[in-house]
Amino acid sequence: MATASHTRDLIVLGIETSCDETAAALVRRDASGNGTIMANLVRSQFSLHAAFGGVVPEIAARAHVELVDLLIAEALAEARLDWEAIDGIAATAGPGLIGGLIVGVATGKAIALARGLPFMALNHLEAHALTPGLTHGLRFPYLLLLVSGGHTQLLIVKDVGSYIRLGTTLDDALGEAFDKAAKLLGLGYPGGPALEEHAKRGHASIALPRPMLGRAEPHFSLAGLKTALRHEAINRAPLGTQDVADLCASFQEAVADVVADRARRAMELYIDALGATAQRTLVVAGGVAANQRLRAVLGSLTARLGFDLILPPPDLCTDNAAMVAWAGAERLARGLVDGLAAPARARWPLDPDAIPALGAGVKA
Ligand code: KG4
Ligand code: ZN
Repeated sequence: MATASHTRDLIVLGIETSCDETAAALVRRDASGNGTIMANLVRSQFSLHAAFGGVVPEIAARAHVELVDLLIAEALAEARLDWEAIDGIAATAGPGLIGGLIVGVATGKAIALARGLPFMALNHLEAHALTPGLTHGLRFPYLLLLVSGGHTQLLIVKDVGSYIRLGTTLDDALGEAFDKAAKLLGLGYPGGPALEEHAKRGHASIALPRPMLGRAEPHFSLAGLKTALRHEAINRAPLGTQDVADLCASFQEAVADVVADRARRAMELYIDALGATAQRTLVVAGGVAANQRLRAVLGSLTARLGFDLILPPPDLCTDNAAMVAWAGAERLARGLVDGLAAPARARWPLDPDAIPALGAGVKA
């Protein structure tokens, strides 16, 4: 992998449209590899999808079309920059909902073509993975646990463009499991924060399975846990407030046990792969990283195994365009530029050499 060769500041526009957030951001990367956010705008489409209990792809794509130009103009105004100051354009090209991806990629390419600027087609997972370089100046390598509504991955981040996927989910993403659990308990969408709130008043007294615990590969599987929760809820119907709280607490505790076990296994594999002297840092990103119980469990685990724990600030953990702009700047600095033929890709694994995880609905 080429080392950072740029000797001047680079300013990159980032565009994010892979799911239900439309986002545009401007980030400056200086010659020594440090980043500054100059503008970071996110418009959630939450209210457009809430009535459906999940994201509707066609509605999302249409909303991206309506918003993205406006947000880019706002970002430039907020950063007090004009197009002359921009060195490159980065847009999320996958993985994600294809309609939204096409909107972001087409917008980015059109600007790049019109302004004669380099274009970077970004992998959304790479943008999450590189965020601690922007937020904490963290250098490579490190271990990443990415847990959101769409992704559940354990990755060794070796360098820009160099990733080893240790674990993924065989079925639901972690946030998706929280959302489905919350939905079946009647708690609304997105369910993670609501479920955590109810769990505070509950006791983790209901026996639920801990899928994949102790398995050698740090994969996840959450569908069975969700089904077990459904059975327990049906057995107790009609559910009182305390029943709901106890079910939430029990579910959250089962998830926390699984996450701690899978992360512990990944830390062992990280040391096996990179050696005992490798930098020991675990980064946790994605919306589910907001969960206090998970934070506590991962805090004691990393302390026990001599790892530092880095949790980027919530607004940079969840989907945003600053991470896209930053990853684009990291790529641009290394000359890793894409042509205008780069496609939008609904599926795009970060580590193409990863041995496929055997399961019904593997996402990446
Ligand atoms: O990263 P994110 O904002 O969006 C993407 O999915 O890309 O993550 C959203 C997910 C949702 O599934 C939401 O329920 C979950 O993160 N989440 C939580 C909490 N806050 C958000 N899950 C558990 N506990 C929380 N406190
Ligand atoms: Zn994401």
